[in-house]
Amino acid sequence: MPARQSRAAAKTSRKTRKPTTTALDRASSAAGRTAGRLVKSVADRVLPALPHDAVKLLEKDHRRFERLLEQGEKTTERAGKRRKEILRTLAAGIVAHERKEEKVLYPALKRHPDARDIVLEGYQEHHVADVLVRELKAMKTDDERWGAKFKVLKESLEHHIEEEEGHMFRKARTALGRDRLDELGRRMQSLTHRTPAR
Ligand SMILES: [Fe+2]
Ligand SMILES: [Fe+2]
Repeated sequence: MPARQSRAAAKTSRKTRKPTTTALDRASSAAGRTAGRLVKSVADRVLPALPHDAVKLLEKDHRRFERLLEQGEKTTERAGKRRKEILRTLAAGIVAHERKEEKVLYPALKRHPDARDIVLEGYQEHHVADVLVRELKAMKTDDERWGAKFKVLKESLEHHIEEEEGHMFRKARTALGRDRLDELGRRMQSLTHRTPAR
């Protein structure tokens, strides 16, 4: 090979040759990744939630449901209009809320093996709430069973809220992290504007 060609070949080979990865490099980048994950996990616990945080949005709905449930429980058979109004507001809120959870949070969380059971339970508790709301809507507000059925709905929802906030949402914080929860919250908000009537 002529000298000029040989020099050019050597130059090209130097340019294209991949740097050798040593065991030390690999160990160092693995340590870097572990440190990165650790920093992220600490940040997820310590730093305040981002503005569209999915858990915060859902907890806000929960507080609203609790207020409506308290109000509904205090009504009597004579407060037909008030009962209808509370039930209508509560039913619409539950539809929108279940949609946020079932379309956004639950599928994201269900992928984590230790959250799977609590998510499956969540779907069933939504179903129970839906049945009770449907039965209440079909019942006359001066029916003597209305108050008892509303009370069962209240207790059932309170139990569900307790399970979500006490277990599921905590799991979501650690398994999904701040950024992902913010992204899920944005998706929930975009759903709210397209909630179909049920
Ligand atoms: Fe919820
Ligand atoms: Fe729920």
